[in-house]
Amino acid sequence: MRLIITNSYEEMSVAAAKIFAGQIYLKPDSVLGMATGSTPLGLYKKLIAVHETIGLDFSEIISFNLDEYIGLEPENPQSYHYFMHKNFFDRINIKSENVYIPDGMAADMVAEGTRYDALIESRGGIDLQVLGIGQNAHIGFNEPDIKFEATTHRVRLDEETIQANARFFTDEQEVPRYAISMGIKNIMLAKKVVLLANGKNKAEAICKAVCGGVSPAAPASILQLHRDVTVIVDHDAAALLPQAVKAPC
Ligand code: F6R
Repeated sequence: MRLIITNSYEEMSVAAAKIFAGQIYLKPDSVLGMATGSTPLGLYKKLIAVHETIGLDFSEIISFNLDEYIGLEPENPQSYHYFMHKNFFDRINIKSENVYIPDGMAADMVAEGTRYDALIESRGGIDLQVLGIGQNAHIGFNEPDIKFEATTHRVRLDEETIQANARFFTDEQEVPRYAISMGIKNIMLAKKVVLLANGKNKAEAICKAVCGGVSPAAPASILQLHRDVTVIVDHDAAALLPQAVKAPC
């Protein structure tokens, strides 16, 4: 794991955007793994800016999102389909046929998971995956559990996740209780991973991810076993990391 501690959310987003822009420049047909939520918004803004100013080209890029709420139509402003199009895809030159997001309206979630995993494989696997992290150390919507779920699957969201995501809805009752998410094996198969976190409310999760024991009780901890992970955090999210871990940063 490489750890980069930045002074601000802005710096974190710039550092992540450099990794993504470099990947796209060197391999224009890269397969990118995308996340939703507040954390990667700055990264997406920076990449849009690089696209607009110096023409970073997404025309051959393929993207797979980590997850989607179950029961929300793609047109629903709370859906991750809507979020990704509004905040990223509609503002770059990615081809719509190269954008993949799990179908939260599928009648059979087991079949949808199988279909999604096969699509990732058919496109050659993910080259670079961005991850946010939940306060309970979830990645994607892989919630703390007694085992790591390998592939794309239906999840019941934890109460903590529902509370955290309620900020995007007018009423907590509106937050879907279920989602479909890539599994841990899907994430671990990505060739490179960038994990982003900012804010004090992520400090405990980052501590578990970076230097806790590897356990499905803290799903992000599995990343300690990945061969190419860059963790980019601001000082607040790094606050609980032991000095020895922070020292080289
Ligand atoms: C979203 C996702 C989640 C979020 C996490 C952090 O696609 O997979 O794991 O990354 O819940 O969310 P924010 O960034 O809103 O704090």
